[in-house]
Amino acid sequence: MNSDSDLQIAGDILEVQHLLQPAREHPSTVSEFVGLARSIAADRAQWAGIVQYDSASRWYHRLHQGPGYEVWLLSWVPGQGSGLHDHGLSAGVLTVLEGRLTERTESGARSLGAGAQRAFGPGYVHEVVNDSLEPAVSLHVYYPGLTEMPMHATQSAPTAVDVVPA
Ligand SMILES: [Fe+2]
Repeated sequence: MNSDSDLQIAGDILEVQHLLQPAREHPSTVSEFVGLARSIAADRAQWAGIVQYDSASRWYHRLHQGPGYEVWLLSWVPGQGSGLHDHGLSAGVLTVLEGRLTERTESGARSLGAGAQRAFGPGYVHEVVNDSLEPAVSLHVYYPGLTEMPMHATQSAPTAVDVVPA
């Protein structure tokens, strides 16, 4: 018995579905973007047949676009790298799908194998490179969508603007 309230739920709670919040069609939180990337990573049919490798320039493909976010598929042949850059006002989630990539930041280098994920906020500065002997594939979610990717010559101010995702 509840003496603090007159409210009582009578009958079948499942009959009030119209009062429940609907499941969101699109992700909107960091954990939901991480989850989206994980679900795409686990579903190879969504991406494995699309990937191409280009030794002349890094290959990239916009896999999916939703309200306020974009999902890019990238490949990296051995030796290819992004250069040091940030992502403008975009936050992001980097997920390695195949192979191994190295992420370099001012705090050091991190080796990322298949399944590894890195989530970052606006202004995050890093360099991604495939310094292994095998090709690599990665998935990049940006929210909002990537509109600029300023390159950094060093850890100081940006020197140029490029929009090749990384
Ligand atoms: Fe990046």
